[in-house]
Amino acid sequence: MSDATPILHMLSPQKHMSPFDVNMAADAGYKVIVPYINVTLEEVTALTQDAIFSRPPNFGVRTGLFIGGKDAILALDMMDAAQKALVPPFGLSTFADPAGSFTTAAAMVACVERVLRTKFNRGWKGLRVAVFGATGVVGFASSIIAALEGAQVTLVAHRGVDRVIRSAEVSKQRFGVDLIAKSGETEEAKQAIISDAEVIFAAAAAGVRVISAENKAKANNLLVVADVNAVPPPGVDGMELFMDGAPLPGCNALGVGPLAIGDIKYKTESGLFKRMIASDKPVHFDFRAAFELARTLTA
Ligand SMILES: NC(=O)c1ccc[n+]([C@@H]2O[C@H](COP(=O)([O-])OP(=O)(O)OC[C@H]3O[C@@H](n4cnc5c(N)ncnc54)[C@H](OP(=O)(O)O)[C@@H]3O)[C@@H](O)[C@H]2O)c1
Repeated sequence: MSDATPILHMLSPQKHMSPFDVNMAADAGYKVIVPYINVTLEEVTALTQDAIFSRPPNFGVRTGLFIGGKDAILALDMMDAAQKALVPPFGLSTFADPAGSFTTAAAMVACVERVLRTKFNRGWKGLRVAVFGATGVVGFASSIIAALEGAQVTLVAHRGVDRVIRSAEVSKQRFGVDLIAKSGETEEAKQAIISDAEVIFAAAAAGVRVISAENKAKANNLLVVADVNAVPPPGVDGMELFMDGAPLPGCNALGVGPLAIGDIKYKTESGLFKRMIASDKPVHFDFRAAFELARTLTA
């Protein structure tokens, strides 16, 4: 391993770089951390090349580029732009985790996978998964991870089915997955989706309840429900913060709560930063790499 100082350049298209991610990077071992804000996609090539040419290649592997923000597609585009800007043997490592969503989604899918395996002897192939908060960054990444594993994933719209249809189109184009887009805008439509689902990802905005006591009482096929929302009230009625495969009261399903997911999310983000620092060649991490690591943590 190179003994060059680990330097992390942290890019955000927003007004702030997330303090959460800065802390995570420092605690994982980065010694120099520089945030760049209001960064546009067009600026990524120049910033990347500015970072690589100042260090010999064996030092370059200790240079990292983190991409934050709040937009999953933009973060992936920025990561692509950074990789295309590399001029071997000059390189650096990249890691995209906008709003912590890639590592959170990876952790949620890995935690649910563990419950499916240990409590039901089931895997993702053909499993019916309904995603609430599907237009958000966590919902977007978790739906693709589950679909890549073979699940039959439905994106549920709470306003305007067009937005989830667009999201399904983007996912098909970029990742080759077939996601189903459905309206959950009326209570009747929403209940029909919940009653059919075997797994639910509740990834709506903080403090928004998406699954009520009445909803879950009629969820006759439901095996596992995961909730990433840690801000009261829970996204799923009766969900407890640290629930990790325990029975969810008022239905036959098992629950996975936000802090059980948060624990794996934290270890995944930290672990990816550590892998970047330790690698002897440039590495590039998005939600797929996050899931690969998260599932080893829940094995
Ligand atoms: N546990 C953890 O470790 C962890 C880590 C990070 C984030 N989180 C949590 O994960 C959740 C999602 O975060 P995010 O960054 O993906 O948020 P986001 O990008 O703001 O997305 C929020 C989603 O919730 C939907 N939504 C808003 N109001 C709703 C309502 N009344 N009913 C149904 N859906 C509604 C939004 O839909 P529209 O856009 O269509 O309105 C959007 O799809 C949040 O609760 C956040 O706190 C947890």
